[in-house]
Order: sequence, then C-alpha cells, then structure tokens
Amino acid sequence: MNVLLTGGAGYIGSHTAVALLEAGHEVVVADSLVNSHEEALRRVERITGRALTFHRADCTDPEAMREVFARHDIDAVIHLAGLKAVGESTEQPLRYYRNNLDALLTLCETMDAAGVRDLVLSSSATVYGDPERVPIPEDAPLSTTNPYGSTKLFAERILDDLATADPRWRIVSLRYFNPIGAHPSGLIGEDPQGIPNNLFPYIAQVAAGRRDHLSVFGDDYDTPDGTGVRDYLHVMDLATGHLAAVDHLADAPGHRVYNLGTGRGTSVLEGLRSFERATGSPIPHRVVDRRPGDIAVCYADPAAASRDLGWKAERTVDDACRDAWRWQSTNPDGYTERPAPDPVPG
Ligand code: NAD
Ligand code: WQD
Repeated sequence: MNVLLTGGAGYIGSHTAVALLEAGHEVVVADSLVNSHEEALRRVERITGRALTFHRADCTDPEAMREVFARHDIDAVIHLAGLKAVGESTEQPLRYYRNNLDALLTLCETMDAAGVRDLVLSSSATVYGDPERVPIPEDAPLSTTNPYGSTKLFAERILDDLATADPRWRIVSLRYFNPIGAHPSGLIGEDPQGIPNNLFPYIAQVAAGRRDHLSVFGDDYDTPDGTGVRDYLHVMDLATGHLAAVDHLADAPGHRVYNLGTGRGTSVLEGLRSFERATGSPIPHRVVDRRPGDIAVCYADPAAASRDLGWKAERTVDDACRDAWRWQSTNPDGYTERPAPDPVPG
C-alpha cells in the first residue's frame, strides 16, 4: 500500500516508516520539520535500503496537503503530526489547539476530497487522565488535565462524529502509553529539542554526561518503591502496532480505539536501574518534590489490540534502554549535520 505518514520525520514516525518499508509498503512523509530533522528520513532509507518520498509540508496548509494527495495515489494515512509537550501546551494553549486540531481537520477534508478514508490516528493514554483503576481498558472514563491531552480527546471525538456521518471512513485511533528506546541500529532515535520533559531521554542525557543528574519527581506515591509507575513501550513495538492497525483497516469500518502498551508497569527507579544495566555505570539522581499534574500509576490493558489487531509488545524495558543508549552514545547531539555513524553490526 501507499501510506502517507504525517509527522513521519519525528521520533515515532521515523521508526514507523522503518516498519512500513520493511513490510513492503511505499511511504510518503509530510512533515513541517517544526520538531524534527530531514536527516532522520535519510537514515530510515539507510536502515531499510528503500527510498521514501518526503514533502516538507504543514498539515494545517490546505494547498500543501492537496498537493501531496495530487502527486501520490495514497491508500491510507497514519496521522502522527502534532505538537506533544504537555508543559508547553499549558503555556501556549492556542498554538496547540490551532496546530493539532487544524492539522487533523485539514487532513480529513483533503482525504475526503481525494476519496481516501482509511486513517490511523496517533492518540495518547493521556486521555485517561488519572485512572480509577489499572490496567486501563479502552472503555475507561476519559478526562484530560492539559491542552495537549485535550487535543487528543477532541481529535478522537471528531473522528467518532466523522465515522458516524459517513460509513465509508475506516479509522483506528491508537492510544500510545509511554514510548521509549530507539531502532537497534543506533541510527535513529528520540532527539528532544532543549531540556527533555520525559524520563528516559533525560536519563540518557545524564548517562551521556550532558546533564548533571536525574531529579526523581517524588518517592511518596502509593507504589511499591514510592516512585511513579508507567507503561514503557519500545518504539519499535509501537511501530509494528501501526503496521497491524493499517493492515486491519479494511476489516474495520467506523472508528475503533486501541491501547498500545505492554500491560506492565515500571517505576522510575526500576527504569533508572534498567538504564544503568545498559550503560554499566551508575546514573546520578536525587529525589525531589512531585511534578505538579503527575499521576501515580498508569499502564495499559492491551487485550483488545491483541485480540483485534494480532499485536502485542515483544520487547522489554531493558531492550529499550540498550537501544536508547546505543542511539545516545553514538549520536550525542542527535541529528546534527555530521554524517551518520556506521550502523552497529548485528
Ligand atoms: P515528534 O515531535 O518527534 O514528531 C511529531 C512530528 O510532527 C515532528 O516531526 C513535527 O515536525 C511534525 N509536526 C508537528 N506539527 C506539524 C504540522 N502542523 N504539520 C506537519 N508536521 C508537523 O513527536 P513523537 O513523539 O514522534 O509523536 C508523534 C505523535 O505521537 C504525536 O501526535 C504525539 O502527540 C503522539 N504521542 C507521542 C507520545 C510520546 O511520548 N512520544 C505519546 C503518546 C502520543
Ligand atoms: C514518566 C515518569 C515522572 C521526568 C508524558 C505525557 C504523555 C505522553 C508521554 C504524549 C513520571 C517521572 C519524569 C524526570 C521523573 N506524551 N519523571 N523525572 O508524564 O507519564 O507522560 O509522556 O502523549 O502525554 O504526559 O511521562 O516521561 O514525563 O514521566 O521522575 O525528569 O517519570 O514523574 O512518574 P508521562 P514522563
């Protein structure tokens, strides 16, 4: 199939592009590069030995999106393009609502005009807010506590209404839990701009000596070791989850929602120990106050994705830490203009 990946130059998009190309699909990427580098796509081509097509395009630009669909016979779209920083969204709500919702609406209008109505949406476990129980099933109550999370919740509601109004649409929304890790080649990985908000990229930068120590945001939660518990999913498992979703669309009229997670919780300290095993060295850290807005425990019930998509996570947090460390240690400055390092053998 010809698959359009919006936001395909980003962290999850680049890894999803690898999975799609290796499965024999043709990949077209539309990305504004507001939070990524085209170099990531060159490395995707190196990893797979296959070419993809890149359009530097903003999904909120109707003309740019019309051009993409005019030039390619797209069969399905995976919509990853979006701004995703929770803290930034509370400071810049209008930017987040404009970008994330305008991109979705413009994309859907352009798809409809082109007669393309097979869509996978990148959603987030953040739509569950502070869950009443874990593991979290897809029919758990939804609530959001920040503008970013609300853009995901509103996106799902928009697609509910679209699929109800026009049964030709076949839509799957994937609620990602906490993606971590990198492709095992060490050629692509997470390349956060500025100070990382998320745990694992921050740990990786401490391990690389770019940050002095990790601040552990609270150890007084009602969890086994007192630190926050999350469902950390290897980004390559997340990538294969998109492949399974795209393959499933033909059998799935309407709008369906699936959790993509391991179904296992890992605490901050357990994650830190895992990364220390990957590097072979202790990682300096100290416990500080809780981060406002953080919840204690969040991990998925992934049974529906296993049942309907035939997907489940295969890799462990240790696998992800080893792969993240390989990426971090061979690309200390992320996707800079330096030529890519030789891929790690094996
Ligand atoms: P990322 O920032 O690496 O990738 C997003 C990509 O979208 C970037 O390449 C960016 O340049 C592009 N983009 C943003 N706005 C655009 C626009 N208007 N037009 C075209 N391109 C645009 O982030 P990621 O971690 O790869 O996330 C991808 C998707 O997954 C996002 O929708 C995000 O909300 C969602 N998600 C991420 C996580 C996570 O922890 N990383 C968890 C759940 C959901
Ligand atoms: C994980 C745990 C922190 C950093 C966020 C977004 C969510 C989704 C995934 C987009 C928590 C602790 C963290 C640090 C720490 N993104 N921590 N020190 O908050 O579960 O989810 O990313 O959809 O929307 O909210 O992930 O990695 O920020 O935090 O102790 O320097 O690590 O308290 O317990 P989170 P995270």
